[in-house]
Amino acid sequence: MEHLTLKPFPKDFLWGASSSAYQCEGAWDEDGKGPSVQDTAPVIPGTSDWKVCSDHYHRFKEDIALMAEMGFTEYRFSIAWPRIIPDGDGEINPKGVAHYHEVIDECLKYGINPVITLYHFDLPNALQVKYGGWLSRQCIDDFVRYCEVCFREYGSKVKYFLTINEQNMMTMFNMGGYANDKDRYQANHHMLVAMAKATIRCHELCDAWIAPAPNITAVYPLTSAPLDNLAAMDYDQLRNRLYLDTICFGKYPEAFSVYLEQRGCFPDIAEGDMEAMAAAKPDFIAFNYYGASCVKYVSNEDGLAAKAKMRDAQGKADMANFMVGMMTEPGLAVGVTNPLQEQTSYGMGIDPVGLRITLRQLWERYQLPLLITENGCGVPDTLEEDGTVHDPYRIDYLRVHIKACQEAITDGVHLMGYSPWSAFDLVSTHQGIKKRYGMIYINRDDNDLKDCARIRKDSFYWYQKAIKSNGEDLS
Ligand code: BG6
Repeated sequence: MEHLTLKPFPKDFLWGASSSAYQCEGAWDEDGKGPSVQDTAPVIPGTSDWKVCSDHYHRFKEDIALMAEMGFTEYRFSIAWPRIIPDGDGEINPKGVAHYHEVIDECLKYGINPVITLYHFDLPNALQVKYGGWLSRQCIDDFVRYCEVCFREYGSKVKYFLTINEQNMMTMFNMGGYANDKDRYQANHHMLVAMAKATIRCHELCDAWIAPAPNITAVYPLTSAPLDNLAAMDYDQLRNRLYLDTICFGKYPEAFSVYLEQRGCFPDIAEGDMEAMAAAKPDFIAFNYYGASCVKYVSNEDGLAAKAKMRDAQGKADMANFMVGMMTEPGLAVGVTNPLQEQTSYGMGIDPVGLRITLRQLWERYQLPLLITENGCGVPDTLEEDGTVHDPYRIDYLRVHIKACQEAITDGVHLMGYSPWSAFDLVSTHQGIKKRYGMIYINRDDNDLKDCARIRKDSFYWYQKAIKSNGEDLS
């Protein structure tokens, strides 16, 4: 609907941006840090490794000062588990603990609320080697122990913790490299239980609020065919509800549970698991949003054929069949490109209306305050000879998404804040540092570290103005 006037952003609205440890810190083996599964994975040709990234570990004071200059009232960053407990389950590393005290104190010095993600794709490699990572139930206890260290150390200074970043992407894209779907959903179940137990322990050990942090989005049917509408509803269970109904309502979504059971991949549930999920009460929902999903129905037979083609395509240069197979859930849906959704040059959606729909769906379904913890425009930027970086595309992107936030607030949604990806350039998960998201340019390339100088882009000044006016001046 079109509102005739828009409500202002709340006075205490959190304005800031987000990062993750392994993508920005560098210092991958310094001060006692153990390797994570990211450090030991092969480097994708043509992209950067994780050794230096944005050098944030050494330059966080300079970075946080720039965030303060932009007017941030929050900074979402992650703690690297292998910096706190290098082998995942052994001794605590005092230098790692001290480092995050310094980062938190630096934020607080400027009145910036730290929003801390406890786990952002960087499992201690030792746990992967020792027992296969999340496939083992032992990982639940080890994660909860690590979280307890963080709650005890930082819980008196930090108001907001996030448990696991984008668990749904890790499961859907099989980031753990599991041999079959049963294992994939078993590992996912362990993460759900770990998230529930960490939520409970947070409330027992400190006064902070805690939330899950999946990647959530509205799901559109490709056509108005009844089966495509059903596919959109089912895909919503697989893509969104599996990760939020469990922590918010303490139960797996029903139709998708039957789907998994009939295919022999519903996870084994141990005594106490569902009780932990029912007892865990998140205080808010954090979510990342990069554009809506679009799906169409696929029969079981056609879906299995697409999966077979995907296996054949693996290792060959047949990306088309590989991607279709990846996006297929036999008998449920296949993810497709929405011909009516704008895209960045990297093929990521630009869909502010989808953000408003997603906010509405989350609020109406769960009735918990919402925090947008990622949203952003990752594209190459040019550093001009005069030392400026003009990024009007990023400003346009931010403008329309912030406007969508205001429309959702006017709709009645309780939105706590907006924390796009990212304050400064960092290394993308698969596409190197050339895919830049920051409002601060980091002077380095994928294969040349240069001086990693920090350079304010045009979007830096634009966001500064937007924050200063509490979202009123988006010109
Ligand atoms: C989210 C992740 O999926 O998207 C971030 O939480 C990631 O870690 C961001 O960097 C952008 O994706 P990409 O692949 O462009 O880095």
